[in-house]
Amino acid sequence: MNNRNMAEFTAPGLPNEAAKSTIEVLSQRLIALLDLQLTLKHIHWNVVGPNFIGVHEMLDPQVDAVRAMTDTIAERIATLGGTPKGTPKAIVEGRSWDDYSMDKAMVIDHLVALDAVYNGVNSDHRSAIEKLEELDPVSEDMITGQLADLEQFQWFVRAHIESSSGELKA
Ligand SMILES: [Fe+2]
Repeated sequence: MNNRNMAEFTAPGLPNEAAKSTIEVLSQRLIALLDLQLTLKHIHWNVVGPNFIGVHEMLDPQVDAVRAMTDTIAERIATLGGTPKGTPKAIVEGRSWDDYSMDKAMVIDHLVALDAVYNGVNSDHRSAIEKLEELDPVSEDMITGQLADLEQFQWFVRAHIESSSGELKA
């Protein structure tokens, strides 16, 4: 591999081109989850109103879990010979979405916005699984395991904004 961000090695038996493409997919997932864990903390700090404590305390375990996922992805990138990028500049330059727009706001408004954040992150994680299926089943398995947790976290959020007939507030 001659890209300066790539090592001379990758996982044994994995073709170099597949490794390079896998690293590209994983790098996007790394940026998304670094952004997500920062956004979750931001909401934890700025949410107000009825049910404050429940929502405030719901978010910290999500921060911890998502932060652990970023570590797993970053170390997989390094294992494959890539360079995981975790600086604020890398996040801002590498993402395709806008910064979370709300500061202090009511529980319901933050949770509707967070549901939209999870729509983006989780659908992109699902697309990544499809790409990784062809490239590297080990990375595919890793991202699949993460998506189960991310989808559960989105359910926690949706349970606050769902009506008894199953409609979500918009
Ligand atoms: Fe806190």
